[in-house]
Amino acid sequence: MSRKNIAAGNWKMNTTIEEGIDLAQLIAGAERSKEVITILGVPFTHIYPLQKKIKVSSKVLLAAQNCHHKTSGAYTGEISPTMLAAMKVPYVIIGHSERREYNHEDNALLAAKLRAALDAGLKVIFCCGEALDIRKAGSHVSHVKNQLVESLFQLDAKEMKNIVIAYEPIWAIGTGETASPAQAQEMHAAIRSMLQIKYGKRVAENTSILYGGSVKGNNAKELFSQPDVDGGLVGGASLNGAEFVQIINSF
Ligand code: PGA
Repeated sequence: MSRKNIAAGNWKMNTTIEEGIDLAQLIAGAERSKEVITILGVPFTHIYPLQKKIKVSSKVLLAAQNCHHKTSGAYTGEISPTMLAAMKVPYVIIGHSERREYNHEDNALLAAKLRAALDAGLKVIFCCGEALDIRKAGSHVSHVKNQLVESLFQLDAKEMKNIVIAYEPIWAIGTGETASPAQAQEMHAAIRSMLQIKYGKRVAENTSILYGGSVKGNNAKELFSQPDVDGGLVGGASLNGAEFVQIINSF
């Protein structure tokens, strides 16, 4: 089984439930030019209403944007992977740079979250990526490698079929500044070769690696045409239904 084209939206802390339903309905109802897995990363509050209102099918799948690393317990305000799995949410995003920064999630915690999510039966979109000073210093590849080694690479090869990697340079997130297709390709190829060294050719070839960071309707095609870019994790532009559909049709 070879890797898939994936267009994933990350709505972050945006939209009311009504707005979310409208947006998801537009996306679910749109024509697709190719086989593309569409994933909507929605707020927890939206999961159940969206499951009721839109046809959550192989055409549009839902993702939670975070989960806790324990299955249950005295963790006020948290949502466990077990709860998400019980709701039949197929995906969870783990390791987004906003959570790493604002919620101080480090590689060790993310390793625990990955473990808990997979044990609950969820698939994971695992985010990695460097800040601007690291890119400027030229150590972006080793930084991302360290993020993978300290969290993702705790998994065994069999578990990697439930992982999608999203490379998201922090300097490109929400800034309007996109990594050039060549910069994206360089990092994606580097990640794929790390996968090959750790897990072998099969896992490397079969793991989808998404690019995230100011993906828009007008740059998605060029980014997605890079040989190691299998799609996008899209923030801002995923809140505009027509533009996100354009991105879905950019493969
Ligand atoms: P952006 O966000 O597309 O708004 O840059 C991407 C992300 O944070 O996943």
